[in-house]
Amino acid sequence: MARCHSRILCLCLMPCLMVAHLLVYVVVSVCIAMSYHQPQLPVRFTATGVSSISAGLAAHPANPFWSLRLEEGTLWNQLQHPLDRQHNPILRGNSTNTSPMPAARAQEQGSPVQQEVPECSPDHRWVSLIRDFSSLPEQMRDFVLSMHCTQYPLLLDQLDLCSHEDGDGEELMLLVAVKSQTGNFEARQAIRQTWGASGWVRGEEGASRGLVRTVFLLGRQDGSTGDHPELGALLELENHRHRDILQWDFRDTFFNLTLKDVLFWRWFSERCPKARFIFKGDDDVFLRTRSLLDFLHQQEATLGAGPNGTGGTRDLVVGEVISNADPNRQPSTKYYIPESFFKGVYPAYAGGGGVVYSGALALRLREVSERVHLFPIDDVYLGMCLHRLGISPTHHPGFLTFDIPEADRGKPCAYRSILLVHKRSPQEILHLWAALQTPPPPC
Ligand SMILES: *[C@@H]1O[C@H](CO)[C@@H](O)[C@H](O)[C@H]1NC(C)=O
Ligand SMILES: *[C@@H]1O[C@H](CO)[C@@H](O)[C@H](O)[C@H]1NC(C)=O
Ligand SMILES: *[C@@H]1O[C@H](CO)[C@@H](O)[C@H](O)[C@H]1NC(C)=O
Repeated sequence: MARCHSRILCLCLMPCLMVAHLLVYVVVSVCIAMSYHQPQLPVRFTATGVSSISAGLAAHPANPFWSLRLEEGTLWNQLQHPLDRQHNPILRGNSTNTSPMPAARAQEQGSPVQQEVPECSPDHRWVSLIRDFSSLPEQMRDFVLSMHCTQYPLLLDQLDLCSHEDGDGEELMLLVAVKSQTGNFEARQAIRQTWGASGWVRGEEGASRGLVRTVFLLGRQDGSTGDHPELGALLELENHRHRDILQWDFRDTFFNLTLKDVLFWRWFSERCPKARFIFKGDDDVFLRTRSLLDFLHQQEATLGAGPNGTGGTRDLVVGEVISNADPNRQPSTKYYIPESFFKGVYPAYAGGGGVVYSGALALRLREVSERVHLFPIDDVYLGMCLHRLGISPTHHPGFLTFDIPEADRGKPCAYRSILLVHKRSPQEILHLWAALQTPPPPC
């Protein structure tokens, strides 16, 4: 009887025991799960490598990655996209470095810019790509109609500007290239008499000197390009006297200023390729040329300069750097860029009032400009070309393209630490120059 009793008991207890075991298992599992903490992993994974920030972080590429995403409905981005893909160093290895530019161009299927056959009459082929073309400001419409063309003949050339008869066979230290307009005779003359005087210039601090030459960059501005008085004969007289004017056959307008850079780089690589540095500025700036020479000598000393400008100053480009600027979207302003033309943030660029770069860089800018479509704002265009060369402009606090405080403008002392100031009339340039010739008063 007792046996039977225990058997019943066993039969009853068995499921209870199993349930109890299961319960223990569940409780233990839940406890383990609840006591689990996320392991303390780093926020983002970084491989070891060399980096400018910390030796513990991964190396980052020296060159920027090209944007592979295409912005729809914006003309410039659409035109530039295939060119950037074509020359993308990652997609195409390093073949673009070695292949000569004309060959690279010839490969471009349906490339909009034809270098071989310059066809520079207004062209409507891209108008249909801009949805609001007819409502755009006139200068934007003119730009779109002529932006396919970068071939304009020289009306005034200078063959011997860099063969410096007074140079004792020495190369040019600084080529000063000033963007000017036909009518600005006074500004050009003031520059020749002051900061743009050609010849040997001694630095302010060091005893080192350098050979400086100035050239003015002009487009065409006469009866054929708008309501302008005919000043051609005067200009010829001026050029006959000074031999320092380059003039190309295109309308000298604000949105055509980029052409002056592109055509100047071409002229430079043919006529002046050995000049060590270039200052490019407007004709309403004041430059302290002697201090700039000191600065350049100093850069050569610290960075090291090859005899042909191929050393450490190869990538030098210095000015007042503007970063992360958005295009101006105010239709009433001079700088207005509609969204149907360009979308995106401007690359870091140096204010156009004045910028200094090495001659070696100018040669490379000439090459890269063949594969960057013209952009209406010249200093942004320089930034776009630099971006594609993987170079960032260096900021220098001495470049004041936005002027110094009004109260200080009359005081020579305020100019002691600056290299460039904008904007100054011819009279102010002469006055400032004279004031800076006297030995510095205690500041
Ligand atoms: C890249 O350049 C290196 C060295 O100049 C060369 O050995 C290599 O073949 C090149 N690669 C390509 C894809 O051209
Ligand atoms: C630039 O110059 C060309 C050639 O003279 C002209 O056709 C075009 O209208 C000019 N562009 C602007 C924006 O003025
Ligand atoms: C510099 O120029 C000289 C002669 O003009 C040339 O022999 C030399 O190879 C050049 N150096 C470099 C690094 O290009």
